[in-house]
Amino acid sequence: MESSLLRLLLKNSSDFLSVPHLCQQLQLTDRQLTDLLKTLTSWGYTFETHPTLGVRLLQLSSALHLDELRARLPQDHPWTLFHLNETPSTMDFIKREGIRGGAHGTLVIANSQTAGRGRHGRSWNSRPDLGLTFSVLLRPDFPLLCYSRLTIIAAVATLQAAERMTHLPLQIKWPNDLMIGKRKLAGILTEAHLDQRKQSFAILGLGINLMQELDDFPEELQIKASSLFIESQRSIRRTDFLVEWIERFQNGLSLPFEEIIRLWKSKCLNLGESIVVTTPQGKIQGMALDLESNGALLLRDDHGKIHSILSGLIEP
Ligand code: BTN
Repeated sequence: MESSLLRLLLKNSSDFLSVPHLCQQLQLTDRQLTDLLKTLTSWGYTFETHPTLGVRLLQLSSALHLDELRARLPQDHPWTLFHLNETPSTMDFIKREGIRGGAHGTLVIANSQTAGRGRHGRSWNSRPDLGLTFSVLLRPDFPLLCYSRLTIIAAVATLQAAERMTHLPLQIKWPNDLMIGKRKLAGILTEAHLDQRKQSFAILGLGINLMQELDDFPEELQIKASSLFIESQRSIRRTDFLVEWIERFQNGLSLPFEEIIRLWKSKCLNLGESIVVTTPQGKIQGMALDLESNGALLLRDDHGKIHSILSGLIEP
């Protein structure tokens, strides 16, 4: 009910909505409407009430509330949303949901993770509430072998959402780090799971630094990490970012993949550069030439041999 009220008020954010109109739309009594407004006020939303004009929304809560997220997503959206205060890793939560048969689009956000993980066994640290950390359960209609596409689609969605909100000159470091210059703003982790009933699913996890100041990062990260706030001096609400990201990601899933690859390449900072990639088979040094349709990086090593690298870390 909170989300239905927010949806109505958000749709008419600059106008008052009369109490009889709201009560009729929501099938509530005056008393129930007053209680609902009290609940939303206790969550940090502020309203202006006028004896004849009714109610209008003045300010959104600074905290993340799923009811607002639901109110701002299209009504027929396929997302099942969870919000946890603390969890070891949202990846594990979604894995359990996936094994249990959870639906495509199950998404969990955590205010804080005690064992957040990154690619290649690294950890992901984020001070509670300052960044956005979430994972999504995906059951795409393409084969397991193409699951690396999801990472590329998510990287493009993350870049587009962040650009839209900050107008910063952002880039992607292969395969999926969101960068500003040499500093990392966001990372994506994709894990594929094949369950016993042969129903495979993917778990996509995103960690993005939104509101951190430099000293919110551990000392060793302070020269290589940054946040959208540090770079743009704009306050970015987690809910606003998620609404934007979900819209972009959902759109990315429906676009021809060649279009996503084109967008990705236009923002990649490595193509045409001389790089060193650490792969499970060892280090390879050479020129980054192209991105293949499965998300692999094409690299020509110093002896002229071409490598197609599906998984690796670019140094530094
Ligand atoms: C990387 O850059 O190495 C990927 C980082 C991915 C971090 C996110 S935060 C939400 C989700 N839960 C995790 O434990 N990891 C991902």
